[in-house]
Amino acid sequence: MQRRHFLGTLAAVSVFPHDGFGQTSTSRLVAGVHRQQVLPAGYPGTEMWSFDAAFPGTALRARQGDRLAVTVENQLPQATSVHWHGLRLENGMDGVPGLTQAPIAKGASFDYDFALPDAGTYWYHSHAKSMEQIERGLYGPLIINEIDPPDVDQDITLMIDDIRLEQDGSFAAFDNFHDLSHAGRIGNLWLANGQIDPAYPLKRGERVRVRLINAANARVFTLGLQGFDGWVVALDGMPLNDPQALPEELVLAPAQRVDLIVDVTTDDEEAFLITFERDGGYAIAHFPVSGPSKAARSEKVILPPNPDFPIDLANARTATLLIEGGAMGGMRAARLDGQELGARELAGRGLFWALNGVAGRPETPLLDLSLGESARIGMANNTAFPHGMHLHGMHFSEVLADGSLGPLRDTILLNPQETREIAFQAHNPGDWLFHCHMLAHHQAGMGSWIRVS
Ligand code: C2O
Ligand code: CU
Repeated sequence: MQRRHFLGTLAAVSVFPHDGFGQTSTSRLVAGVHRQQVLPAGYPGTEMWSFDAAFPGTALRARQGDRLAVTVENQLPQATSVHWHGLRLENGMDGVPGLTQAPIAKGASFDYDFALPDAGTYWYHSHAKSMEQIERGLYGPLIINEIDPPDVDQDITLMIDDIRLEQDGSFAAFDNFHDLSHAGRIGNLWLANGQIDPAYPLKRGERVRVRLINAANARVFTLGLQGFDGWVVALDGMPLNDPQALPEELVLAPAQRVDLIVDVTTDDEEAFLITFERDGGYAIAHFPVSGPSKAARSEKVILPPNPDFPIDLANARTATLLIEGGAMGGMRAARLDGQELGARELAGRGLFWALNGVAGRPETPLLDLSLGESARIGMANNTAFPHGMHLHGMHFSEVLADGSLGPLRDTILLNPQETREIAFQAHNPGDWLFHCHMLAHHQAGMGSWIRVS
């Protein structure tokens, strides 16, 4: 394995507090502008947009069953909103401008306040002009502790990102039609918790919960955790009832999360979080290891399940979703605000993708479901690029080839030309966005929604 300190050395280690709060956790998040040294020392700093003048923003922690009340104050130069990604919360708190709330104007604030039915690893991020606002740093971890959390020595959250900076520390331009029509905004700098290859010291034999969150605009990360043994215990916040042995490669589409419970087993001096790229593996975080060698503990950890909303496949309402467009996709036309427009006219408006022939959020929902009803959506990716489709407000399972249901997720990766089917119970009333989490794709047309009432 090679180590590449992309442009140089590392910065200070960020620390996340370990304990949750009682009953209602009350916080204030200020969205504003701050400077941070993102490029290595010696290069200019970067003007970030962030929460609480930190990138990533303050880690919010609360306990399952409690409420979270967060006042978001907007000191940015433009309107914003906050989405609590993966939480099955009430619709009015979901943070989608034009669907669940008005944008929070510059200088204004908004009080979010919602119940927390589920434990797990989530994240919060801007949901206004998100391709730009998330890239500039408007996101942070959102950790809901189990009522009875598993016993670990350390709990480490790593928000993985790639951002595209110029040598002068500024963000590369955002008005880039190539990003909108191809793979999205892929960065030139890998970051874990806003830093280049940060270090997290560990002791041999320690049991560590590692929470990986892909906060990147568009990059599908293939990650490897080397020097550990253990299990994948949760995906997209939801516990697996049958934890899987830590695989060599973990594929995380944008917005996806994975929780690992692993023991430090290496006899080397360092363990690594690796990103596998075409030309080899590179460390994006490392773990200096000390202490006498110890064998891995054998007990597998199964996290307590979150509330279950069983899916009735046989009686489910069905819909199909055809994903079209993008470069090399051959999309000729799509509807926009009820009007049929040719690909060139759409491109002139920055639109390159369509879901079921519609570019941009359609006037009518993809599905109009009754509360408690089950639904299945068959999706076909008829494009040359991968897409990470995210449903707000409810988790879904993939309907596997043998007809069984896969683990609960809130985001699913569809590689080029792949078809996949998802199913869920419409247990949460409201209007829920369903969109590609490659943020350039969402901006360029890949967004629909589902109504539950
Ligand atoms: Cu991570 Cu529509 O959101
Ligand atoms: Cu996409």
